[in-house]
Amino acid sequence: MKIIPIAIRMINEIKNRFRLLYNKEAEILVKAPGRVNLIGEHTDYNAGLVLPAAIDKCMYFLFSSNDSNVGRVYAKDLNKQATIDLNNLEKTDSVWVNYIVGLLLEFKIKGLSLKGFECVFSSDIPIGAGMSSSAALECGFAMGMNHINQLNLGSWEIVDMSHHSNHTFMNIYGGIMDQFTSLFGQNDKCMLMNCADRSFSYHDIDLKEYSIVMLNTNVKHEHTISGYNERSAECKEIVKRLQKFDSDIKSISETNNETIDTAGIEWPDNLKRRARFVINENDRVLEFSRAMKNGDIQKLGELLYQSHYGLQHLFEVSCPELNLLVDLTRDNQHILGARMMGGGFGGCTINLMKSDCVEEITNTLISKYKERVGIQAESYFIKVSDGAHVMML
Ligand code: GLA
Repeated sequence: MKIIPIAIRMINEIKNRFRLLYNKEAEILVKAPGRVNLIGEHTDYNAGLVLPAAIDKCMYFLFSSNDSNVGRVYAKDLNKQATIDLNNLEKTDSVWVNYIVGLLLEFKIKGLSLKGFECVFSSDIPIGAGMSSSAALECGFAMGMNHINQLNLGSWEIVDMSHHSNHTFMNIYGGIMDQFTSLFGQNDKCMLMNCADRSFSYHDIDLKEYSIVMLNTNVKHEHTISGYNERSAECKEIVKRLQKFDSDIKSISETNNETIDTAGIEWPDNLKRRARFVINENDRVLEFSRAMKNGDIQKLGELLYQSHYGLQHLFEVSCPELNLLVDLTRDNQHILGARMMGGGFGGCTINLMKSDCVEEITNTLISKYKERVGIQAESYFIKVSDGAHVMML
């Protein structure tokens, strides 16, 4: 039997669905990837350093335009359709529709008028796994609107629109890492970005005989968003306190552990631990990219474990299931390191494993995890890929 690559299958399926639903052919196809983050967690909204990469798990969109004031979108994987009145953009009770409405509002805020449209999309990015399916939705959708309306918006403008919509419409007070990665990713490269000034550089990912494997806890705790927003608020509070000491400080990333310890600022214990995590995590990003350049794979693993320690105990965004998946890797000589990835409170761990026994190791981990918590974890062998773009139809 001929095996059809998953991307081609997805594209064929959305093409068929598009014809069936709208009785016409689409004008453009847009692809937007999810992402992994090697290291640098919860640093983006603290104007710190991140080291993410776009992956081969993607969202595909088909678009066409029309002369009405209505947008029609079909989410194939959910088998759900939304009809959006472009003159009356309001919150709905469906999260995926809200991401789209929030972005449509951003075009409006910019004074850009949009034609009516039809859209069908589908994805193989696992939802709630911390691989940024929502950023792929935002970036791919905005890119499609940009293209069919010939608006010539640049990628940074799309990052800003998504970021603004997340804060003002979705009430998620995140950073720019996910949208940046989905839009700027490059094949086989990770990106070292300083979120303070948005400067970034591409770096080879050479892990020698090791590979990156994602393990999904398959849990998503209820407080995922509230917990994230709470951390973001705590970080703002830290900056406020730092400003009493030095009014020029704009972010935690501009300070250091010495200042935290000796500047005479009154710190509740939780704030001190949050600040320490961000400062140390920024250092780890630099150490990680240095070690990668020097081919010191052992060090990469150590840094992953250190990052997890900080996320678990200092920043407190992990959860028992993530901790268990990381702890199960510790006595395995073929695993160099692991940590929770993304916002936390569920989702995936990122693991550095010996390539020639990846399947055996992941099967063992998954069955031990099942024994302990009764949940079936999943593994993903990802490939680092290109960022979002409009593709030929
Ligand atoms: C989520 C957010 C990102 C970033 C990470 C944590 O993925 O969307 O902006 O803050 O969590 O590093």
